[in-house]
Amino acid sequence: MLDLVTPVRGRVAFYDLSRKQESFAEALVRGLSSMPKHVPSHFLYDAQGSALFDRICVLPEYYPTRTEMQILADHADDIARQIGPEATLIELGSGSSVKVRLLLDAMQRPSAYIPIDVSGEHLLAAADALADDYPKLAVAAICADYGDTFPLPETPGSGRQVAFFPGSTIGNLEPTDAEPFLAGWARSGVDMIVGVDLVKGREVLEPAYDDAQGVTAAFSLNLLARANRELDADFDLSAFAHRSRWDMDESRITIGIESLKEQTVSAAGKSFHFDAGERIETEHSYKYSVDGFQRLARRAGYRPEAVWTDADGLFSVHYLKAGPT
Ligand code: AVJ
Repeated sequence: MLDLVTPVRGRVAFYDLSRKQESFAEALVRGLSSMPKHVPSHFLYDAQGSALFDRICVLPEYYPTRTEMQILADHADDIARQIGPEATLIELGSGSSVKVRLLLDAMQRPSAYIPIDVSGEHLLAAADALADDYPKLAVAAICADYGDTFPLPETPGSGRQVAFFPGSTIGNLEPTDAEPFLAGWARSGVDMIVGVDLVKGREVLEPAYDDAQGVTAAFSLNLLARANRELDADFDLSAFAHRSRWDMDESRITIGIESLKEQTVSAAGKSFHFDAGERIETEHSYKYSVDGFQRLARRAGYRPEAVWTDADGLFSVHYLKAGPT
């Protein structure tokens, strides 16, 4: 059973599983000591990183957020029909719980909502606000990494359990990790609604990850600023630069931070040497074709039941069904 840390705040049950995770200090020391240097992307999302990401989502160059919202709005009734009545929605990486409202509004008597996010404060505030707006819904928030495995709290309602994983966050996983990740949910009998960004031309992809206003660069470099704030590091932000590139062979955007000169930096009581041009890899953002993603879902044990896209074929939302026909 889940460890109930904050019994109930308002109407929201809150389970804090975040203590099991690797700390930023441990991850940074480990990542800067490896070759090539890398830091797991979820450390980009402290309070300032999350605020910068919210600004990315409304940039003219960053099409995924608005396109996915439009797909969800246009097809909400169809999606709700797939979900069925009295269902429980589990949201992986729920952030501000904005997109899920489009589904809840179209669903027939939704029973419960279980948002899961690493950012505890933000999670509780969003879950509280949502519980106020949907008085009949049971809400149980879980502070954890969406990739962790844990038992789900018991929820009322006789309908399906459906995980909602929007934003193409699945693109941050290596495809070899995405398959077992999906397989875990499939084995639990949980259906899945996944937002998946589609392969397209470099001229659209690269500006989406390196915008003219420099918001994405600030989001990337916030990782070093965060180390300066939290780990007593001395990164000179003007001696590093955000880099992103569409890698067609790997079907991904590779995002990193490049050292602009040879330098030594201290962080968390250790020192790290950088060659000029050496990079810290921070994110991979994989892009799929509709077919390619459906093949991955099948290998994971899911049945791709429906897919919705926008007219320009920029983004896709998939309904994956668990269990026998
Ligand atoms: C949150 C992983 C979906 O890959 O598009 C956006 C992250 N990084 N701009 C993405 C991101 C820089 C985003 N995901």
